Amino acid sequence: MSSKSNNDINADKITYLLGLLGRNRTEKELNSNIADSDYEDIEDSKMSTLESMLTRPPISEGTYISDTTVAQDDVSEVIQEIYEDVVQTGIAAGFETESHMQYARRSLFNALPWYYRSLDANHGWMLYWLVNFKQLLPTESGNAEPIAEEISMLVTEKINSVIIDEGLGGIAGGKHQIGHAASTYASVLALILVEDYETLNKIRPNLYIWIMRSLKNGPDSGDKYGSFSMHPHGESDTRSTYCVLVIASLLNILTDELREGTAEWISRCQTFEGGFAGVPSTEAHGGYTFCALASYFFLLGKPQNEENGELKAQISKYIDIDGLLHWTVMRQYQLEGGLSGRTNKLVDACYSFWIGGVFPLLEMVLEEESLFDREALRIYILNCCQDSRGGLRDKPGKSPDFYHSNYTALGLCVAENTYSINKEKKTGADNYAYKITSIPISGNVQFRAINPIFGLPLGYAEKCKEHFIRLDCK
Ligand code: FPP
Ligand code: ZN
Repeated sequence: MSSKSNNDINADKITYLLGLLGRNRTEKELNSNIADSDYEDIEDSKMSTLESMLTRPPISEGTYISDTTVAQDDVSEVIQEIYEDVVQTGIAAGFETESHMQYARRSLFNALPWYYRSLDANHGWMLYWLVNFKQLLPTESGNAEPIAEEISMLVTEKINSVIIDEGLGGIAGGKHQIGHAASTYASVLALILVEDYETLNKIRPNLYIWIMRSLKNGPDSGDKYGSFSMHPHGESDTRSTYCVLVIASLLNILTDELREGTAEWISRCQTFEGGFAGVPSTEAHGGYTFCALASYFFLLGKPQNEENGELKAQISKYIDIDGLLHWTVMRQYQLEGGLSGRTNKLVDACYSFWIGGVFPLLEMVLEEESLFDREALRIYILNCCQDSRGGLRDKPGKSPDFYHSNYTALGLCVAENTYSINKEKKTGADNYAYKITSIPISGNVQFRAINPIFGLPLGYAEKCKEHFIRLDCK
């Protein structure tokens, strides 16, 4: 138990806040025993987001001490110092586009450092992370840079070298490996970024056979019915299920037979906390929650069809949307402004997408403009997650990597834009995943909108889907 009373803590916070605002407490204020809430009524309008992050009390404080609570205290101390410095100097970090662009280019074209050895089953992933990161970076014109020929060739050649039996065995993550739903998903996204529809068209009938024969857990699969495996005899969870739905939707092979039982199976992964786990009866986590919620955008009825009803009414037949909203908003931390992946764990910039990406989905379902503090997330990313050598990182003290660079940049795209379903949009596509529209938030924004269902800049998934719909109509 802390030896300080709540009033003492409030008094310290107020003195601290006044210090930040450049004055000391008056004699009257010192003697009047005001609480935080009284003070906020007076000063709220003058408080910037950052000052409020530094001074508002956390939502809850526990007394149990563990390795994680100690790590949490260390992280908040470091971040508090960074923010105090920003407030005192008045200098906040801007986004260092050029150094991140250099990081993306050098990572794509140079030999990988030795410590990437453990990612030898992730070649498709690395291509998706790096090319996507590069395409997300702000440009002067406001449009994404065209993909250079050498990048298209790199992606096409590398992925063609790991396609198994022309797609009948999926796409592997590296040479001499078996096909895997997650590496197939990441490779498909990388091919879509470079618009290599030729390779995709060559393999898509076989990918459908692979999915239905080797990955789909049908009615005789017991409690796995409705889910998909990562590979024959591999694990089945909300990640593998989302990966298969994305592949099938983008390549226009998402049949009713493929999605049979899937909406029901995913609903069983929602936990008592409100978030989703990988499989029923395990712990809710941001990565799995994103996969679960995004999957419904492929599974529910067409938005234009009146009989189907609104997205919220349809989704509420399967999941507890209020419980999910509650769990998701609890992932944003008061001081840090960043997001965590699960209860009582630390902020990490990759959740700027795995959790940050859940917000636009919820905003579309609930028809709400903004359900979290977008500015606080920007503050965390810009001030705590940029490495001076280029690349983005989990948190201060960590090194940048391809994975965090991509998902953190996607988080900025979420934070700087609002998202809604365009009910009027006639894309020729078949469901909610292609009906997304966005508006930049006014102010100093640089990041273009994404399609949060896919984690791609807005337009790429739509163009691919339309390409295959047109081809199939011929
Ligand atoms: C825990 O990591 C991480 C998980 C339990 C799973 C994460 C899942 C994803 C990121 C989604 C992957 C999506 C696809 C499409 C394949 P940890 O214990 O190191 O981190 P934590 O302390 O932040 O929970
Ligand atoms: Zn992370």
